Amino acid sequence: MAGNAKLDLGDKTIELPVIEGSEGEKALDISKLRAETGYITLDNGFVNTGSCTSAVTFLNGEKGILRYRGYPIEQLAESSNFLEVSWLLYYGELPTKTQMAEFEKKVASFNELPEGLESMISSFPKSAHPMGVLSSATVALSAYYQDHLGPNPTDKDKEDLFAQLLGQVKLIVAKSYRNSQGLDPIASDSSLSYCKDFLNMMFGEADDEVAKALDVLLILHADHEQNCSASTVRVVGSSHANIFSTISGGIDALWGQLHGGANQAVLEMLEEINKAGGDAEKALEKAKDKEDPFKLMGFGHRVYKNFDPRAKIIKVQCDKVLEKLNVNDPLLNIAKGLEKQALEDEYFVKRKLYPNVDFYSGIIYKALGIPTNMFTAMFVLGRLPGWMSQWKELREDPSAKICRPRQIYTGPTERNYKALDER
Ligand code: CMC
Repeated sequence: MAGNAKLDLGDKTIELPVIEGSEGEKALDISKLRAETGYITLDNGFVNTGSCTSAVTFLNGEKGILRYRGYPIEQLAESSNFLEVSWLLYYGELPTKTQMAEFEKKVASFNELPEGLESMISSFPKSAHPMGVLSSATVALSAYYQDHLGPNPTDKDKEDLFAQLLGQVKLIVAKSYRNSQGLDPIASDSSLSYCKDFLNMMFGEADDEVAKALDVLLILHADHEQNCSASTVRVVGSSHANIFSTISGGIDALWGQLHGGANQAVLEMLEEINKAGGDAEKALEKAKDKEDPFKLMGFGHRVYKNFDPRAKIIKVQCDKVLEKLNVNDPLLNIAKGLEKQALEDEYFVKRKLYPNVDFYSGIIYKALGIPTNMFTAMFVLGRLPGWMSQWKELREDPSAKICRPRQIYTGPTERNYKALDER
């Protein structure tokens, strides 16, 4: 604790403990505020509210810093791999060689879906949005693994579920893609790396360089502290709901275009600009018009107010991947032009709006052959270890409580009911 702050409420002054995190960020602990004063705090969108303490991910939006368990995202993207990062997020330390080998084997052992779930996915219309299929299929796992529905999973249960979901969510995404294309499923091959197996189940082939590019994207998406979907996971998990429904809730929150759904929306926006002749000016004007709900997709962030370190890495990756795959996508030039124009425009400069992780990721996914409406499902694959780590931390925190915010009521005061014929 780092001292106290005084809150003067007219006739009453109370002291609020100041909490300091390991990177020096400070918070007022208001946990006794209502009991001692009758006041609550009001913070629309939780802009100033810390919902928990967490040792998983640190980010500093002013300086553009992102670290998983202390390790800079740049180092992990350069030298690690997705499963190692998943382990790191979940267990808090880098794995030993033996731990890594066992973990890879364990994740790869979840190489099948229950037959009923396979049929369920096949029964969805081909045009179904992959996020809807993924969310439904994830919660439907609860029908097949009923031993994992209890309110108090053991450490072993949680570890098994971590590996199981990493393995099976990948199968669900690939299976739903094959279904949407009217193609037969391709079985998982446990001898392949995580990303190669995924690409093989999607396309029947997996190039090393393409798999590496995908692996980097998944690392960059793996966690992002208390964002909308991670917070949803914590809220659902706080009721002691089972992990399948908890993760399904995270998937639903991610689907929205202000969050993970932005990657699909960015590509659709770039395609529209391309169709209209490539001039980004109209999109910029629309985004600045306060009467128009349109926003420049892939721009802006609640926390990053300088640059998004993930976007920096992805932009470089984007050039590399397109060159390696010999893809000449006009959308990349449009995106670069749009970024340049926006960064010189007073509206975006004043509001500190920069490209976020979703701005360039779609161009890479497109080059890898992934359909646009699947981009957010790819984000799910990446974010899964983060959600699981946030859930584990929540469930192991002895001070955790069910999430139940309060409100300031603004509706009618008490009035008497009138029967239908008296109204
Ligand atoms: N285009 C135009 N104006 C914008 C944009 C944008 N993309 N983003 C923010 N603004 C404006 C906003 O209208 C507001 O203006 P004013 O001060 O005049 O009212 C100001 O900038 C501050 O924005 P805000 O809406 O208060 O910021 P927020 O923290 O509530 O929202 C955001 C953050 C990411 C939802 C928002 O920037 C946005 O909608 N961006 C587009 C969608 C997007 O790319 N989402 C992906 C986020 S990163 C991936 C992830 O982790 O989810």
